[in-house]
Amino acid sequence: MKRSDFPSDFIWGTATSAYQIEGAVHEDGRGPSIWDTFSHTPGKTRGGHTGDVACDHYHRYLTDIGLMRSLGLNAYRFSVAWPRIFPQGRGEPNPKGLAFYDRLVDALLESGLEPWLTLYHWDLPQALQDQGGWPQRDTAYAFAEYAAYLSRHLGDRVRHWITLNEPWCSAHLGYYAGVHAPGLRDLALSLQAAHHLLLAHGLAVPLIRENAPKAQVGITLNLAPGHPASPDPADVAAARRYDGFQNRWYLDPLYGFGYPPDMLELYGPASPHIRSGDLEAIATPTDFLGINYYTRAVLKHSLEAPHRFSGVRWGQAFTHMDWEVYPDGLRELLVRLAREYRPKALYITENGAAYPDVLVNGQVSDPERTRYLQAHFAAALQALREGAPLRGYFVWSLLDNFEWAEGYEKRFGLVYVDFATQARYLKDSGHWLRVFLQEEVPSA
Ligand code: IFM
Repeated sequence: MKRSDFPSDFIWGTATSAYQIEGAVHEDGRGPSIWDTFSHTPGKTRGGHTGDVACDHYHRYLTDIGLMRSLGLNAYRFSVAWPRIFPQGRGEPNPKGLAFYDRLVDALLESGLEPWLTLYHWDLPQALQDQGGWPQRDTAYAFAEYAAYLSRHLGDRVRHWITLNEPWCSAHLGYYAGVHAPGLRDLALSLQAAHHLLLAHGLAVPLIRENAPKAQVGITLNLAPGHPASPDPADVAAARRYDGFQNRWYLDPLYGFGYPPDMLELYGPASPHIRSGDLEAIATPTDFLGINYYTRAVLKHSLEAPHRFSGVRWGQAFTHMDWEVYPDGLRELLVRLAREYRPKALYITENGAAYPDVLVNGQVSDPERTRYLQAHFAAALQALREGAPLRGYFVWSLLDNFEWAEGYEKRFGLVYVDFATQARYLKDSGHWLRVFLQEEVPSA
């Protein structure tokens, strides 16, 4: 497999998100987000880590752009911190916050890197959470105002817009599992949050299009095939429920099929309140679907409320997140999405792996990550050959960064960050990617 096996206009990028890399949380008028509150709450993140400093990207973005250039990438997916733009979530914008992204976008374009902007990667302004957060309908309208403002100011230069990153995580991990900000545990709240996230997306798409008529607009979902642990019909049904919970709950309404009836039945009275017109707004056509793929799930029937499935540890190889390495799941997913939902285009907006990297004499030997990327690139290529309209691939992540509840322990970067000094070191996987993109040596 080599780069030229992919179409010549294929997008190759890396992805990051604001709270995970920027730091500078008190700088230039940024307001607090739910992740500031959550990470500063004792016991919520590993080692009590916070994103206060992170990779200090706010001050080092030119260095980081230089790293991307040196890798030979042609795009960069980043997210904007909503509380830098509207410190109180809505109302008075903060010009200094906008100025940072202005500088970032200009520097990217000057370096030949196409900016792919994600509006929301989990850092809800705390002021909006204080009024109820995503379970509150008004948050969707606040998001639409933010999307309109940002696209008015950056839409002349940013041509790729992603409304939300992984609404499943915002809704489920944040409002049901309680392991992400804001740390709540309530099924009905989480399903209402998911609905308002999707509504926020649907409200924002036409506003972005109005302000940036040439832009491509989409949404990013974290999707995973769910396989039954055995042929037992109870396990097969469990895998189907997992698919409803993880994949179809988002895909079906986005592509005009409404919420899946089997899941509405399962959720019963916890199902969200849906107003007339909401489903039409959510199904506003988009230009692409972004997919974040890391692993699959293997399921068995269980009486565990409320979804009645449980995951089984399965497979041969695992990353530092304890996620199974399963490249064929990416092929399976891409082909299925193309067949069942017919998106205009698909992009892998995140894929990568954490391993316990060690810096030795300025070098990081991470052959597992290289193998992981090679195998997933090959799976993506196979999906392309099977007809999936795949147009690009963003590796997660450029830098080791704040891995949410896992703090800084899980390293996903192509670039190792020494958090004590902020020095950056290209890992061996980064060297491999550079060679792959320059096509000097065909990969395995
Ligand atoms: O770090 C996260 C990212 O913020 C969202 N997708 C998954 C990554 C790895 O867990």
